[in-house]
Parts: sequence; structure tokens; C-alpha cells
Amino acid sequence: MEKRERFSSRLGFILISAGCAIGLGNVWRFPYITGQYGGAAFVLIYLVFLVILGMPIMAMEFAVGRASQKSIAKAYQALEPKGSKWHIAGHFAVAGNYLLMMFYTVVGGWMLSYIVKMAKGDFVGQSAEGVSQVFNNMLANPAELTFWMVITVLISFGICALGFQKGVERITKVMMVMLLVIMLVLAVRSLTLGGEAIEGLKFYLVPDFGKMVENGIFEAIFAAMGQAFFTLSLGIGAMAIFGSYIDKDRSLMGEVVNICALDTFVALTAGLIIFPACFAFGVNPGEGPGLVFVTLPNIFNQMAGGQIWGVLFFIFMSFASLSTVIAVFENIISCTMDRWGIPRKKAIVINLVLIIALSMPCVLGFNLLAGFTPAGMNIQDWEDFIVSNNLLPLGSLAFLLFCTSRYGWGWKNFISEADAGKGLKFPKWARVYVSYILPVIVLLVFVSGYVQKFF
Ligand code: PHE
Repeated sequence: MEKRERFSSRLGFILISAGCAIGLGNVWRFPYITGQYGGAAFVLIYLVFLVILGMPIMAMEFAVGRASQKSIAKAYQALEPKGSKWHIAGHFAVAGNYLLMMFYTVVGGWMLSYIVKMAKGDFVGQSAEGVSQVFNNMLANPAELTFWMVITVLISFGICALGFQKGVERITKVMMVMLLVIMLVLAVRSLTLGGEAIEGLKFYLVPDFGKMVENGIFEAIFAAMGQAFFTLSLGIGAMAIFGSYIDKDRSLMGEVVNICALDTFVALTAGLIIFPACFAFGVNPGEGPGLVFVTLPNIFNQMAGGQIWGVLFFIFMSFASLSTVIAVFENIISCTMDRWGIPRKKAIVINLVLIIALSMPCVLGFNLLAGFTPAGMNIQDWEDFIVSNNLLPLGSLAFLLFCTSRYGWGWKNFISEADAGKGLKFPKWARVYVSYILPVIVLLVFVSGYVQKFF
């Protein structure tokens, strides 16, 4: 058996966990959902859910990881009472990591390709039509999509292959710091665009609940909950793995606060970059998923020095998505090692091939298999639906019940693990809340996801 990986420092743990959380969910999904649901009022609801739902569940994931010293492939086995079946949730969690990567590597590839497109000037002088044509042409071209997906996978496994401390920890740390710097530069640029930029700020920061009620408040609430799971990487053990790489000198809640704060900071700042720019150039921010790939290149086109800003912007997006892919790959590698007892290098080679193959359906779903749309959803939509609307909430529910029920690992074990070490403790008064109320909230999110999708 190889020795278990360890972080070289506390900062490494916080930044890598934050890197796992900070991803397309923050820089792509959050701004476009916020645009669709009407801005500030949505942001407020989202923040509430991060605190009441996201933070306790993240503490539970870390506790399960740290107590078991295993990846989620084996963590439930290590902690469950003899003869119980909790480990089935572990199998679903492992599947969730693969399913997530099956489309995430593809969208991550779009980000890389947009760095190059921006740099080459593919958008210069294009009409709005032309800009969206560039995006559609990319989707229509399986070779191009495959190329960028493979690059994303190779870079990320390449970094994992350098080793945990020398690769994953060292490189993600640098990427995260650069991401924060680029992000601040972009936000200053956007806020100083003048014109109507200030209106964008208002849209983003001054809540208009009236408008939200008009557009369907429940839809907005459930979207905010779903986004809270997604952005914090909860429910499939993607966070638990980093709990298994730390020791007990710090209590978990304090670390959770740091990680959630970083994640939220990046999501909010991504909005600060995008919304003022949209309003400054009179572009509708409610565009949906095309916000980043169609709306923004249009904006860069109108901006002085837009090409350079565009390149910087997509580097920022790429760092966010790569840091997540690397973190989830680390989890997948560790699960494979735990499950099959094979060395790291071998686990990397197997998964490299596997993930490339598994990402192909998503690639082809935009072109050769574009006609395959059961219930009106293409392959990517289906993968996203299975992960975001099913495996994340149900997986989170499993963590919740496991940590609070006496038929599982139990509250006492959970609390003593979470509170071991210096720092903020898990609030004891929250026991009733996390044992009985939170599971109901999570179930509601789950059911509502179906109602919204299919009715
Ligand atoms: N949190 C990641 C993001 O915001 C997505 C993710 C979800 C990663 C679940 C791992 C597990 O992009």
C-alpha cells in the first residue's frame, strides 16, 4: 500500500478545497442563473442557502473523510455500523464524480478554446450574429470539441501525475492566487466602463422582490438551493477526499467558513465583472447558458482593448474550471486506488482513458447525436440533470442522515470529529435543525427539481 497523501500546509488544504468548489458553477452558472432570475433578490436567497444548507453539509463531508482516512469509495464502509448498507451511497457518489466529469471536461474545453479564439481575433469585427455563429460552429464540430476536451483531461491528469503535493497542491495553489488577481483586475475594468455600468450594479445589488414574485418565486428559491449544492461541490465526496488528507489540529467548521467565503467571493465578483459590462453595452444579462460564450464576446468586441480583456477573462474562466477538474480527478484517482488497491500511476492511466471515452457522448450530443433529446434535453443536459438534480441532493442527504442518525455513524462521532482541533466548533444547538429540518429541505429541493423539469 502506498502512503496516504497529505497536504503540505493548511493554506494548501484551504486553497485546493476552494479550488474544487470554485469552478464553472461560480463563473458560468451563477452569473447566468442570477441574470435569469432577476439579479439581487436571487443573490440574497442564494447566500442564505449557502449558510443554512451548504456549510453544515460541507462540515459533514470533511468529517467523514477525515475520520475514515479514505476516499468516498471506502469511507462509508470504514465508518458504518456492521451489517448496514450505507456504503451503497458511496457507490453512487463515485458514479457522480464520473458523471460530472463527463460534461465538465467538455465545457472546460470550451473555455480553453475561447482563450485561443480571443487571442486569434476570431470575434474582431463580427456582428452579434457572427459571434453566436462562432459558438454554434464550435458545437457543430465534433473534432474541435474532442480536441479541447482531451487537452483539458491531459493537462489535469498530467498535474495529478506529478504527485499530490508536487502537482495538485503546488499548481492549484498558484492557479487560485492568479485567478483571484485576474478577477480583481477584471472587476475594476468592468466597474469603470462608465455609461450604464452603474445600472448593472443596481440590477446585481439592489433586490427587487416584486419582480421575483412576478417571475415565480418558488422557481427562484429552488434554483438557489440547487446552485448552493453545485457551487460547494457537495454530495458526491469531492470535498470529503480533502478531509482525508488533513490531520486533526484544526476543527472543521472554521475551515468550512474560509472555503465558503472564498467560493462566494469568486461567485459574487464574477457577477461584478459581467453585469456592469452587460449594462454598459446595452446587452441583456438574462441570456442563459450562452451568457459567457455569446454575450460577453460581443461586449469585448465593443470595448477598447477588448481582445486583451477577453483573453484575460477566459484565462480566469479556465483556471476556475481546471482547478475543479484537477480536484475531482484527484478524488477519482484516490477512489480507484482505494477500491482496487492499485498504485497511483496505474489509477491515473486507467482513468485518463476512461474519462476521455466517457466524455465523448457529451461531445457528440451537440452534433452527430444532436437529434437524441429525450424529454427535450440533449446528452449534456441529461448528465447535468442526473448529477445536479439527483446525485448532489441525494448524496448530501445521505451524508446528513449518516452523520446524525444512530443507525449511521451518529451525531456523537460526527461532532467529536468535526470539533477535534483548534478553531470554530459546530454549533450544538443546530442538532435538531440538521437532523430533522435540513433533510426535509433537501428532499424538497430534490422533488421540486423534477416538478420543474417535467411539468
Ligand atoms: N463546485 C464545482 C463548480 O462550481 C462543481 C462541482 C460539483 C464539483 C460537485 C465537484 C462536485 O464548478
